[in-house]
Amino acid sequence: MQKKFKQGKKLAKFIIRGAKKLKGELKINGAKNAALPIIAACLLVKGEVQLKRIPDISDVKVMINLLEALGAKIETFQDEMIINAASVNTAKAPYELVKKIHASFDIAGPLLSRFKEAQVPLPGGCVIGGRAVNLHIDAFRALGASVVLEHGLLKTRAKKIKGNKIYFKKISVGATKNALMAAVLASGTTIIENAALEPEVVDLANFLKQCGSKIYGIGTPEMKIEGVPELHPPIESYKIISDRIEAGTYLLAALITRGEIKINSIDPKFLEALLKNLEAANQKIERGDDSISLKFQNPILPLEVTTMPYPGFPTDLQPLLTTVLTLAKGTSIIEETIFDARFNYIDELRRMGANILVKNKHVLITGVESLTGAPVEAPDIRAGAALVLAALSAQGESEISNIEFIDRGYEQIEKKLNSLGAEIRRI
Ligand code: UD1
Repeated sequence: MQKKFKQGKKLAKFIIRGAKKLKGELKINGAKNAALPIIAACLLVKGEVQLKRIPDISDVKVMINLLEALGAKIETFQDEMIINAASVNTAKAPYELVKKIHASFDIAGPLLSRFKEAQVPLPGGCVIGGRAVNLHIDAFRALGASVVLEHGLLKTRAKKIKGNKIYFKKISVGATKNALMAAVLASGTTIIENAALEPEVVDLANFLKQCGSKIYGIGTPEMKIEGVPELHPPIESYKIISDRIEAGTYLLAALITRGEIKINSIDPKFLEALLKNLEAANQKIERGDDSISLKFQNPILPLEVTTMPYPGFPTDLQPLLTTVLTLAKGTSIIEETIFDARFNYIDELRRMGANILVKNKHVLITGVESLTGAPVEAPDIRAGAALVLAALSAQGESEISNIEFIDRGYEQIEKKLNSLGAEIRRI
């Protein structure tokens, strides 16, 4: 089988000629935030796991490299992947790979479960805000493991992983995933209270169920997990759910260019918080069984939006919605409650003519007639995509640097946008 996943190219840039309406249809990829933990969960499974709809993005490549560094055998072909983790013989994750993506911390739970110990470098700071791991630690301790943090490593070990009650004092996607993966092979029953409800958490739980885990209450705040002695590969190749953040990105790209779009292979339920807000902003939305259509309507009305855990408005779409609201008729307020440094792109938007004030967790956006092209830098995945949206709508040309961030989460973004009528080049 041929290797397909490539590292994001360093120092590439996008040149975007803006003010072109996007129009057409797109198919959405498998979700990054589901694919990454599901690949990590293969560490728990005896035998060859086949996965389908793996997105071709650089974060996936890093996760593949990480599992390979631990000894797993991985083959990829187009968007399919076969993982056999039988030969993994170490529970020590290399710093060089873990530091590249926060999601690599997803291997802590599976390694602890499998080897009764794990050594994983701490994810460290992140451009969108502090990424604490206290809730992951609380979960491991509740399951009977000892945890110490030293020399930049989380070191955890246990004689036995024992089912227990885990109550999360704050909702965390990552900690819920790690708790789940650590608990599926435990002896006895685990109850996770205040679990994250994100579709990607649900997808991980469904995957683990297909592998023989006994998990009840999937998609609710209380999950019950009865430990089983071992996990087997799913009978059929497991298909990753669609990427709701990618879908939201293209809907907003069509909107900011005053265009129209139909997104296929996406369950509209996943994006209800965005869709309701877009309707409140005077936009025409059609929900199909497995599709969403949007048609621009003038004007875009201002909004008041607060980011919340699912099913609330997703923090990952916050930079993209803020960017669209720079062109709304009136003043919008966005409150970011999930990450404490997620307005890192605002200065770049201002350089393109946006009128935005930032105060603590709030941004106040007063709509302008249009944005103007400028050279800007992508600060992270979603903020990078937000700058692409700004450039697509702007008068004149923009140059976006640091696009390796965008490649971490978006498969062939320029190809997809060009297919809708954008003029975007990678240099
Ligand atoms: C995941 C997503 C990310 C998304 C986020 C929120 C992946 C790879 N990333 O990140 O795209 O923006 O969910 O939907 O799936 N926290 C603690 N202690 C902990 C863990 C988290 O205080 O032990 C805090 C975080 O600092 C943050 C909040 O809880 O303020 C939410 O974090 P969490 O839900 O864990 O996000 P991630 O899993 O890191």
